[in-house]
Amino acid sequence: MSRRTPEPGELEPIETASRDEIAALQLERLTWSLGHAYRNVPHYKQAFDAIGAHPDDLTSLEDLAKFPFTSKADLRQNYPFGMFAVPREKLLRIHASSGTTGKPTVVGYTEKDLNTWSDLMARSIRAGGGRPGDIVHVAYGYGLFTGGLGAHYGAERLGCTVVPMSGGQTEKQVQLIEDFRPDIIMVTPSYMLAIGDEYERLGLDPKACPIKVGIHGAEPWTEAMRGEIERRFDMHAVDIYGLSEIMGPGVANECLETKDGLHIWEDHFYPEVVDPATGEVLPDGELGELVITTLTKEGLPMVRYRTRDLTRLMPGTARTHRRFQKVTGRSDDMMIVRGVNVFPTQIEEILLKDKRLSPHYLLELRRPKNLDELTVVVEADSAFADAGEAETAKACGEIRHEIKALVGVSADIRILPPEGVERSLGKAKRIVDLRPKT
Ligand code: DLL
Repeated sequence: MSRRTPEPGELEPIETASRDEIAALQLERLTWSLGHAYRNVPHYKQAFDAIGAHPDDLTSLEDLAKFPFTSKADLRQNYPFGMFAVPREKLLRIHASSGTTGKPTVVGYTEKDLNTWSDLMARSIRAGGGRPGDIVHVAYGYGLFTGGLGAHYGAERLGCTVVPMSGGQTEKQVQLIEDFRPDIIMVTPSYMLAIGDEYERLGLDPKACPIKVGIHGAEPWTEAMRGEIERRFDMHAVDIYGLSEIMGPGVANECLETKDGLHIWEDHFYPEVVDPATGEVLPDGELGELVITTLTKEGLPMVRYRTRDLTRLMPGTARTHRRFQKVTGRSDDMMIVRGVNVFPTQIEEILLKDKRLSPHYLLELRRPKNLDELTVVVEADSAFADAGEAETAKACGEIRHEIKALVGVSADIRILPPEGVERSLGKAKRIVDLRPKT
């Protein structure tokens, strides 16, 4: 394969520690973390007391299931600083993520938390193929979003030269990639494709770009999308996962050598997968909602945080830390169209297979006459842009048929000319819900 592949790098000992060693460390740290949360955050004291759970009762990792979940609503209710477990003066940094409604979710980091974050981001970038001395182009947004600064300090910690480009200014992104010749790019997968389009618009070949690896995350993306990015840029694309409430990017990362799901860094986070409806803990291998407990965080300890992200836990491969499957979607992104559960990623798989289409799409939901209607709005590939009416209608019919057969819903298909779908500069917004609010 012509693809540029970095040399294997050194691992930290904990990345290959035995399962027994990892479990012993987790139990010790979990005991500390639950006690820290209970003693210092009134919300946790109340929530634990309400169901008679006490940190001293934890004698095994499985005992964690006796403790209450924490959700985004708890953070909102304690807005802005009520969930912090240390005096505000001990926090060196605040980040916030804006929800679709209401107040942002505020998170804070002590000096030690920032150090852990940088270490884990450095580990993640190394797992993805980054090496000391590499140039890392960061196109995640800087600011309250954790993507930019998280990637930035992690790459510095690894010993890389960072280009803090942030999101947007797509033409300039291309110019700096061409001039500075980075080894690694860190950016959402959807914006990576927008950078690819810009290459082509400028008459440049993305395949000739210098990047070896893209470390992509912050939004769900499919194997089909990975294939598309890897082909267009002739580079590797690996998955990085994280969320502000737990830390930011770098909670889990795929290893370049296997690209088989994301290793969750179990020395700092304890994962569970639960049935989203009942909250019951599911055995490894079963699909459900990822729940994460932080093991070392001082500023904002999180006990059994409901991520809403759907995945399954799997044993380690390139590392002994467990992996989880690429996140297929968030339970709150699930559309119910006439009774059928649909995730945007299921539609994405189908659209990306079709050579007549570009990978830019939107899903519009409407409810005329009290019945949900789904419209898939997707751009034509430039080679298909001049297709006549008959050919376009044929393509729409075929895609509609495939969606009905594979996903089980009837959708209207609208194929727009190239550039017809607005590009995201960070996280792509896939669903436009035009249904009346009930
Ligand atoms: O998106 C942190 C991040 C930045 C991760 C850069 C990776 C790279 P939030 O803005 O709090 O934090 O959003 C967290 O984004 O619960 C998932 O629903 C989604 N998400 C993040 N990474 C992935 C991924 C950052 N690799 C929410 N695959 C999470 C699927 C992801 N979804």
